Amino acid sequence: MTTIHVLFSDLSRKNYPVHIELGVLARFSALIPLESYSKVIILTDTNLSESILPRFLAHISAPTAVIEIPPGEMAKNVDTLQKIWGELVAVGADRKSLLINLGGGVIGDLGGFAASTFMRGIDFVQVPTTLLAQVDASIGGKVAIDFGGIKNSIGAFNQPMAVLIDPSVLRTLPRRELVSGFAEIIKHGAILDASYFQSATRSPVWECSDEQLQSLILRSCELKQSVVEGDEKESGCRKILNFGHTFGHAIEALHLEASLPMTHGEAVALGMLFESQLSHRIGLLAKHDVDQIRFALEMQGLPTHCTEQWSYEAILEKMQKDKKNSLGKIRWSLIDRIGSCRFDVEVPDQEVRATLETWAWGEIA
Ligand SMILES: NC(=O)c1ccc[n+]([C@@H]2O[C@H](COP(=O)([O-])OP(=O)(O)OC[C@H]3O[C@@H](n4cnc5c(N)ncnc54)[C@H](O)[C@@H]3O)[C@@H](O)[C@H]2O)c1
Ligand SMILES: [Zn+2]
Repeated sequence: MTTIHVLFSDLSRKNYPVHIELGVLARFSALIPLESYSKVIILTDTNLSESILPRFLAHISAPTAVIEIPPGEMAKNVDTLQKIWGELVAVGADRKSLLINLGGGVIGDLGGFAASTFMRGIDFVQVPTTLLAQVDASIGGKVAIDFGGIKNSIGAFNQPMAVLIDPSVLRTLPRRELVSGFAEIIKHGAILDASYFQSATRSPVWECSDEQLQSLILRSCELKQSVVEGDEKESGCRKILNFGHTFGHAIEALHLEASLPMTHGEAVALGMLFESQLSHRIGLLAKHDVDQIRFALEMQGLPTHCTEQWSYEAILEKMQKDKKNSLGKIRWSLIDRIGSCRFDVEVPDQEVRATLETWAWGEIA
């Protein structure tokens, strides 16, 4: 088993292990001191009720209560949060209870926020079951819900007790979700590690063996760990993880409002391509690197065009409400070459508009 330790230099912050291994869920009760909790509650979504949940429950040595919510981003809202709080009260959870978040990034974000707010905060463990959550969402302590048409606008920074990553659970993940997770892998390579970027573009994710997936997950977790340890609350360098997310979150929120299906990774893919084009337009990024990003996305079956013709104003309005902004200005995280990213870049509105016009509705020259 490989264990990464997320360690904060500020001693008031919680350090925690990230265990990564095929089959690690069978060792859950050995790795987490369940006996020290008054109650153990599992939060999951109904897609996992008949598959992963029963297998997981077989490995839990303590009595548990289960809270099930509907799957998908539509559930990442205040109504579901209220339902979770209500069920925690109903099962008799107290401040010494443990919440286990078994599911994708939606379960991790929502359950992490529910745990952070219930009785002023209870312990939680992340058990990510999508590639996206295993390589990105489960590490770093960002927990949130969507509110007011803005992604992740209500939330907190709160670290889990532990993260357990078992790549074997990905075998039941639909291909579209597997591909979605690969967007965050491409992001990690693009912002931090050129050779990881290259290795991650050699074969499509759906052809990867369990072992190949495990080593990709490990590298992404190491990269994410190195960034969040240095800047837990995103006051500086952690902002590079937002590459692709200013435009991506705007597109994701517009699709969500219109009830049009789009995964987080698909939105991030579009965001990375848009933001690469923008970086090229303002003279930061070479055309060759933009092409590399496009090639990687295409190879992994990620989108490189918007299917909807959102107006410039609609996209800009969403981007202007992004919580990463400061003093009314959009702050971009832009790569200046593969493997290197800047943050807090300001770009004139006309360049943003021009990039959108040349890109979103057709091929860029
Ligand atoms: N906190 C962070 O740092 C962070 C980082 C990146 C993304 N996110 C958030 O993560 C969310 C997206 O996460 P996601 O892509 O995992 O989406 P998701 O949680 O909606 O999961 C995608 C789908 O896969 C299903 N599923 C999950 N595991 C499965 C399995 N093993 N087999 C079969 N089906 C399975 C789910 O039921 C769901 O239908 C977004 O809300 C995004 O904002 C958070
Ligand atoms: Zn993301």
